Amino acid sequence: MRTKIIKTIEELRQKLSKVKGNVGFIPTMGYLHEGHLSLVKTAKKESDFVVVSIFVNPSQFSPSEDLEDYPRDLGRDLQLLSDLRVDLIFFPREKEMYPTGYKTWVTVDKITQVLCGKSRPNHFRGVTTIVTKLMNLIDPDKMFMGEKDFQQLVVLRQMAKDLNFKTKIIGCPIIRESDGLAMSSRNKYLSEDNRKNALALHKSLLMAKKLFNNNITSTSEIIAKMTELIEDLNGTIDYIEVVDSATLEHLDNLKKGCRILLAIYIGNTRLIDNMEI
Ligand code: PAF
Repeated sequence: MRTKIIKTIEELRQKLSKVKGNVGFIPTMGYLHEGHLSLVKTAKKESDFVVVSIFVNPSQFSPSEDLEDYPRDLGRDLQLLSDLRVDLIFFPREKEMYPTGYKTWVTVDKITQVLCGKSRPNHFRGVTTIVTKLMNLIDPDKMFMGEKDFQQLVVLRQMAKDLNFKTKIIGCPIIRESDGLAMSSRNKYLSEDNRKNALALHKSLLMAKKLFNNNITSTSEIIAKMTELIEDLNGTIDYIEVVDSATLEHLDNLKKGCRILLAIYIGNTRLIDNMEI
């Protein structure tokens, strides 16, 4: 079957009303990379019908962020998705999702105020709102999300549980370039030098894991060592945090199964990464 591209909610509803079997869904903002494609491949294995949305969601960007410059390449995205035999691509216009007079927002308390939420105050409100709208329209059995945006994954799991969505949210492993840099649409912004320095994120996480394996468990000690490595590579730290993987609560000491999350500016580009210990 050919991949169907749908732009309106009405057409989406019509098409989905005829679908039999279980539906897998991957929300994206486009400019797809191997990370997204790995989600599609997993979804294909686990679902009868796979829907991918492409929508650069304005409400999750603050006025000072990169909404206008966010990389877009629709032609390439459509080709990649039809090569993988995705069943349906939902590619709505902004007015379709946020018509004039739009007033409703979905917010998740507390876990959206920490980590990325500190420096991006309304970001998660935008994410939870658009994902609620998409889940409400598509009503998927499973939704596939990358672990690179680990806080987003935890927030959306909490939201789906609290709002009684039937959808199971499947977290999928981070896909990295061969040198370790986590794949991200924003890697496109990196100059040649910054691309090399961006390895600070993965290198510092690997170092933290090694320190833990050598019985160093103090969060402050580990963060101090990561900071040194990152600053040597000209990175500017937004945050480095050690948290409980389920609750995102700060931990004074690392323990097996916890996560280290970080956001670093490399030049003007803000990159995030994380690792399970
Ligand atoms: O992770 C993303 O690309 C976005 O935050 C998402 C989940 C598609 C919502 O716009």
